[in-house]
Amino acid sequence: MVASLLRPLGALLGVGLLLVGLAPPAAAAPRKLPSYLHVCKRGDPQLEQCVLTSVEKIRPKLLSGIPELNVPSMEPLIIPELVIRPSPRFQAVGKDVQVFGGSNFKVTRLRIEVNATALSFVAGVSVPHLSFVSDYQVDGQILVLPIKGRGQLTANVSDVTGSLHLLGKIVKRKGAEYLQFVEGEFRLELLSPVKIHLDNLFNGDKALGEATNAALNENSEELTEVVVPVAERVVAQFALDTANKISSAFPFDQLLPKN
Ligand SMILES: *[C@@H]1O[C@H](CO)[C@@H](O)[C@H](O)[C@H]1NC(C)=O
Ligand SMILES: *[C@@H]1O[C@H](CO)[C@@H](O)[C@H](O)[C@H]1NC(C)=O
Repeated sequence: MVASLLRPLGALLGVGLLLVGLAPPAAAAPRKLPSYLHVCKRGDPQLEQCVLTSVEKIRPKLLSGIPELNVPSMEPLIIPELVIRPSPRFQAVGKDVQVFGGSNFKVTRLRIEVNATALSFVAGVSVPHLSFVSDYQVDGQILVLPIKGRGQLTANVSDVTGSLHLLGKIVKRKGAEYLQFVEGEFRLELLSPVKIHLDNLFNGDKALGEATNAALNENSEELTEVVVPVAERVVAQFALDTANKISSAFPFDQLLPKN
């Protein structure tokens, strides 16, 4: 008796479950794209041209930062700590490194390849001028110079060019496809010498400090060799993080729709 009552109930529940099963999977609530994200179509034969327009549209937001996506301001770009240790005999630490001028970057060439599984982005970039202000601490030997001190550092460099490569993979999350950048690489070329000044070297010994600063600037090729790999790493990581903060917030189909 009880069993015969339960059977239709079971059938009813079964139908109910079946209907739930047929319903589309609960997708993440669609979020409207903010107006600073200019949409390009994946199949656009002029995709690169369109993305250049997108870059210009987002530039002011990069300048100020995008708090809702956790993207920090690029002007200045602040690096909390930088450690440079090119050899066991030399270590430099920069704290609260502020970089000015990065947001004036120009995209000099762009190649984007996109298919069902991946996106590759290669951009030539140039910046007319960068300046740096940082707290520093340095100890060791560079060139043949002993160098030791802590204080404030300023540096300037003009005509900076580089090439940025980002590789993204299409991943599934909550029933939607997202672009996740998995590799970032930056190659930097400095076309003019870095000008640097470290204040308070050797506990404020003026003569020794001035001589050391002069020697650093006269041997700017060696200086460049030390700073370029660090700068390449920092820029690659910054680009990768920023790209991922934007691309993880919106499904791929919304950022770069098929058509
Ligand atoms: C998809 O694009 C990526 C990145 O450009 C590439 O490495 C991969 O070989 C491509 N896959 C196919 C099936 O074309
Ligand atoms: C870098 O440029 C700034 C601003 O023009 C200037 O104040 C600073 O002294 C310069 N530093 C060096 C090392 O050239």
